[in-house]
Amino acid sequence: MADIILGIESSCDDTSAAVLRDGWLLSNVIASQDVHRAYGGVVPELASRAHEQNIVPVVSEALTRAGVKASDLSAIAFTRGPGLLGSLLVGTSFAKALGVALDCPLVMVNHLQGHILAGFVKEEGKPVVQPSFPYICLLVSGGNSQIVRVDSPLKFEILGQTIDDAVGEAFDKCSKMMGLGYPGGPIIDKLASQGDPNRFKFAKPHIPGLDYSFSGIKTSLLYFVRDEIAKDPDFIEKNKEDICASFQRALIDILMDKLLMAVKQTGIKEVTIGGGVAANSELRERIVAEGKKRGWNTYLPERKFTTDNAAMIAIAGYYHFLAGERCPLDIAPVSRMADF
Ligand code: KG4
Repeated sequence: MADIILGIESSCDDTSAAVLRDGWLLSNVIASQDVHRAYGGVVPELASRAHEQNIVPVVSEALTRAGVKASDLSAIAFTRGPGLLGSLLVGTSFAKALGVALDCPLVMVNHLQGHILAGFVKEEGKPVVQPSFPYICLLVSGGNSQIVRVDSPLKFEILGQTIDDAVGEAFDKCSKMMGLGYPGGPIIDKLASQGDPNRFKFAKPHIPGLDYSFSGIKTSLLYFVRDEIAKDPDFIEKNKEDICASFQRALIDILMDKLLMAVKQTGIKEVTIGGGVAANSELRERIVAEGKKRGWNTYLPERKFTTDNAAMIAIAGYYHFLAGERCPLDIAPVSRMADF
């Protein structure tokens, strides 16, 4: 009998539900929350209210598009954390209530595992291209920057991670400082494609091992912009493409330096990326180019699976389900999850 998994994701500002049959995608519905744009960042209280409004229509749409009845579900997989507690509470509570109503097993998923396994979602009509184990995943999102060794769908080891800000936060803050809008990553990505990445230089961190740091480079941009505006109030408007290209180049250089080190240290040449920043054009090009040069097998998940979505939660949940894991009803969401 087929395993049909409903995935529910509500860790930040996207309400999403997806249905997979034996790992094949049947539907993936995402309701993004525009309400945060005016504030230049996610407002947690507004996010949880929007999740409350979205969750029922999003889940119901995902089931309809999948052509699946709720009673056909084998399990409900939901994001337990990490994320915003109020947002996670909505998805978790809804999953539990639906599980009780349908007498359907629950499986809890670590959001980061979802990002790491996103490339395993199979789609009708598209070639199945997946990394083999063990592989290295560069996990880069708004809340995390990690290099993870993946030995199986259920076995992960963090080789390095940010000691302060996530790289997505650096993209978002850069955009905010320059008054460009939210979320910053896609805006900077677009402007950077029209600019000169070698025009400006930003201080890079010197952090030992495979860990990252992005707070210093953020401050470096802040002081740079402040000093230049003091000389010319129109500096940003006149140079925004070059600033974005140079700042993005510095961020991608930092990410790539440690990724190269991780591959060298582990000898693992299967490399993939995950998380919202994995949608970045320059990062994607660089990984492919380095891979070609160094004999890596590189895997880039489709952009729609890099930012928050429930298909990745459903695929991670599917593996937990196959392993026989079930989640008790008294489980509570957690904003931080120390490890996998
Ligand atoms: O994975 P995600 O949707 O949410 C978290 O779990 O954090 O990632 C959101 C982050 C934001 O910081 C956003 O600016 C960044 O991903 N992002 C990008 C791009 N698209 C989204 N960063 C750089 N380039 C992009 N094209």
